[in-house]
Amino acid sequence: MAKTGGGSDAQLMDKLVSLCKRRGFVFQSSEIYGGLNGAWDYGPLGVELLRNVKNSWWNEMTYRSNIEGIDAAILMHPRTWEASGHVENFTDPMVDCRQCKARYRVDVLFDEVSLKKKKEVLRVLYPGTYDGQQKDEFILAEFGRIGEENPAPILIALTCPSCGNKGTFTEARKFNLMFKTFVGPVEDSSAVVYLRPETAQGIFVNFLNVQSASRQKLPFGIAQIGKAFRNEINTKNFLFRTREFEQMEMQFFVKPGTDVEWFEYWREQRFNWFLKLGMPRERLRWHRHEPGKLAHYAKDAYDIEFAFPFGWGEIEGIHNRTDFDLSRHEQFSSKSMKYFDDDTKEKFTPFIIETSAGASRSFMAFLVNAYAEEDAPTAEGTTETRVVMKFHPKLAPMKAAVFPLVNRDGMPELAHKIEETLRPHMRVFYDDSGAVGRRYRRQDEIGTPYCITVDSQTLQDSTVTIRDRDSMVQERIAGDRILSYLNDKIFTVGL
Ligand code: GAP
Repeated sequence: MAKTGGGSDAQLMDKLVSLCKRRGFVFQSSEIYGGLNGAWDYGPLGVELLRNVKNSWWNEMTYRSNIEGIDAAILMHPRTWEASGHVENFTDPMVDCRQCKARYRVDVLFDEVSLKKKKEVLRVLYPGTYDGQQKDEFILAEFGRIGEENPAPILIALTCPSCGNKGTFTEARKFNLMFKTFVGPVEDSSAVVYLRPETAQGIFVNFLNVQSASRQKLPFGIAQIGKAFRNEINTKNFLFRTREFEQMEMQFFVKPGTDVEWFEYWREQRFNWFLKLGMPRERLRWHRHEPGKLAHYAKDAYDIEFAFPFGWGEIEGIHNRTDFDLSRHEQFSSKSMKYFDDDTKEKFTPFIIETSAGASRSFMAFLVNAYAEEDAPTAEGTTETRVVMKFHPKLAPMKAAVFPLVNRDGMPELAHKIEETLRPHMRVFYDDSGAVGRRYRRQDEIGTPYCITVDSQTLQDSTVTIRDRDSMVQERIAGDRILSYLNDKIFTVGL
């Protein structure tokens, strides 16, 4: 019986973070020095899982006739970020506490204020308008609106969550989230470059290079996977909001007027990718950006959200970016970014439909989705709780484990032979220590979909047992069928 989580949502996150460290999925960055906030290291199993997520995305997106891949540099000409709007707009309003120096993003600070306090603040600040009797939703919406338009009076009325002093916040200031560094030996303003905050711009500036090199015609797309960096004020929730992360982005260039149709097409494609990799429909939902809250470049935008233990959170954005990006790069570089249509002899600036997923955020969503605690039978006829990571077999870091039932009678030799046969094709783990039940549990905990056991019958007829991680059912199959059995089960299922 599945208990998925077994405890509160906060406990589930704690269990996941601890499993990730213990079994080698994710470690805190530079842990021996106390760690660095907002940065994480992927361990031996994590790197496999992350790679499998990225490979699945890459194959899904680029194994099409109308999508090309690129790998652009992280450092780009600083004008790129003026053209993109990041220098001007990629900011969060931020305040400091004058007393204890704690720093907060204004919207996050306001979110944490209790409803009771929000009512009180509005009543004191605007006595004629808010009497404390209005509906909670109304108060929340009004507090949000006023907080965005004019945060100053609210800030004066709040206490600092860190030191408890009232009215100690500075005025809200714009804080740019791009990491700055310098090229060359001179650290002055002419040498400033930024670590890219998104991979998208590397695609936009290469639009015509890729188009002419690949001889693609519109509509076509360019895909890229790569690191992005944001100096987030509040990193939180493990891998959800980090300062260094990976994105999987695809920009699809279309003729203006066909953008709405392609937008719908890519929305469906991207949602289905998560479903095909085992995400249940009910753990995913769409969030449409309200017209007033669209990013400066977007005509329409939807997020795919996943039900994390701490609430719904965006894992991918699908945006209709119009001709904003190419027009801006044309304006800032003085180079034409227009497309010439050979068939119609028209010249125009394409519209762009963007699919922008976080590799690390998707990784975390797949981890959360996989975690389950279940009752499982023991050899003694009782039950015990097993932790099992139910990854889609394609994503599982280890595809199979091979065990000799006992370490004698030639079983280890036969098991090693099977291991060697499988190794060139997939990640395999050999384990000969402890009772076989314990070995199954260790593999369940890292999500290995199949365990192969060599037993005394193998010595007589060359058959082995293969145990399915999810059903725990064992089948006996001929030793020479193992590879084709695993290939069928792992690489063709679901996709
Ligand atoms: N090019 C558009 C763009 O970057 P975004 O919504 O800012 O759009 C896209 O980011 C995706 O990148 C998000 O859906 C999320 O999965 C991931 N992402 C963004 N910021 C992140 C962060 N600080 N940590 C981890 N992932 C992040």
